[in-house]
Amino acid sequence: MKRVCVTGAGGYIASWVVKLLLSKGYMVHGTVRDPCDEKKNGHLKKLENAEERLKLFKADVLEYENLCAAFAGCIGVLHVASPVPGGPVSNPQVELLDPAILGTKNVLNACLNAKVEKVVVVSSASALLGNPKWPTDLEMDESCWTDIEYAKSIEHWYAMSKTVAEVEALEYGKRDDLSVVTICPSFVIGPMLQSTINATSLILLSYMKEEGRTGGDTIENAERPYVDVRDLSEAILLLYENPESNGRYICSPYSLRTRDFVAMMENMFPGHTYPKIFTEKSGRTLLSSKKLVNLGWSYRPLEETIVDTVNNYEELGFLEKGKPYPATIKF
Ligand SMILES: NC(=O)c1ccc[n+]([C@@H]2O[C@H](COP(=O)([O-])OP(=O)(O)OC[C@H]3O[C@@H](n4cnc5c(N)ncnc54)[C@H](OP(=O)(O)O)[C@@H]3O)[C@@H](O)[C@H]2O)c1
Repeated sequence: MKRVCVTGAGGYIASWVVKLLLSKGYMVHGTVRDPCDEKKNGHLKKLENAEERLKLFKADVLEYENLCAAFAGCIGVLHVASPVPGGPVSNPQVELLDPAILGTKNVLNACLNAKVEKVVVVSSASALLGNPKWPTDLEMDESCWTDIEYAKSIEHWYAMSKTVAEVEALEYGKRDDLSVVTICPSFVIGPMLQSTINATSLILLSYMKEEGRTGGDTIENAERPYVDVRDLSEAILLLYENPESNGRYICSPYSLRTRDFVAMMENMFPGHTYPKIFTEKSGRTLLSSKKLVNLGWSYRPLEETIVDTVNNYEELGFLEKGKPYPATIKF
């Protein structure tokens, strides 16, 4: 049976990847930092087929030996674990750079040790967007990279961590007997499987709820690129399974201004506390997912994502129940 390992299995994106793999008949190894933390990882054990086919291993990405133990017997690794800060970072080296960069190196070394054949590394659109030389109105493709020195100068440590880790992962794939593919998702939205809210879901929640919104009634009208977490999981598996996949792939089907995004939500789910004032933020974020689409990737309509996300937030109790969206409408 096909056996693969997902790092950081209990996280927002990784949980969907694990669910998808289990539904496709894979034997799944998942690394988590604390297998006994039911709040963080309990949901994994409840996934369909988890009892028979999911095995959790304790491993921080900075612990090489533990990674080797988790990857033993696997032919593939989907490396998702990397810190996503929910606020200001006091020690970027320890909190972000080391787990992202050294962590990825450790994962790749452990893959070689375990004779893994292929790795998909989850990078980020942050590894593209910090490129001041890219023409504003030109769609970004995979040739666009965040300028590491620029990211450092503006102390965008997350962008720096993801960019350096991705550059090194692709270099590693060139040097050694291991196929390495990277994927750069933009702002990931969609329902959560885990019970503790992740950083980016918290941002989306703040579109509908004043609590957590720094500007009260006011929000920045920035253009933001989005992808559904379920479509992203399909993309990660597609890159893993397709022998033609190579290099890096942008995964970001939609770009829209916050005002337009909020208007869609408000139209579908009136009754929540939406921001009223939008401060203008210039600049475009146009990302092309053509390379991924050409490989066979498809994605759902944004409306479907919004409906499923808001229903999920209400079910999990992160959002008080608003007016239900009519179930008769199909996308
Ligand atoms: N959400 C987005 O919009 C977005 C967009 C682009 C790319 N990404 C990338 O997607 C990946 C997953 O993000 P997410 O949104 O799913 O966030 P998340 O729910 O916070 O997941 C992050 C995962 O990384 C794990 N992790 C952090 N530091 C670790 C370490 N030192 N050792 C082992 N595991 C560690 C966390 O484990 P614990 O549970 O133990 O803390 C958690 O499982 C990250 O690589 C992120 O950069 C996310």
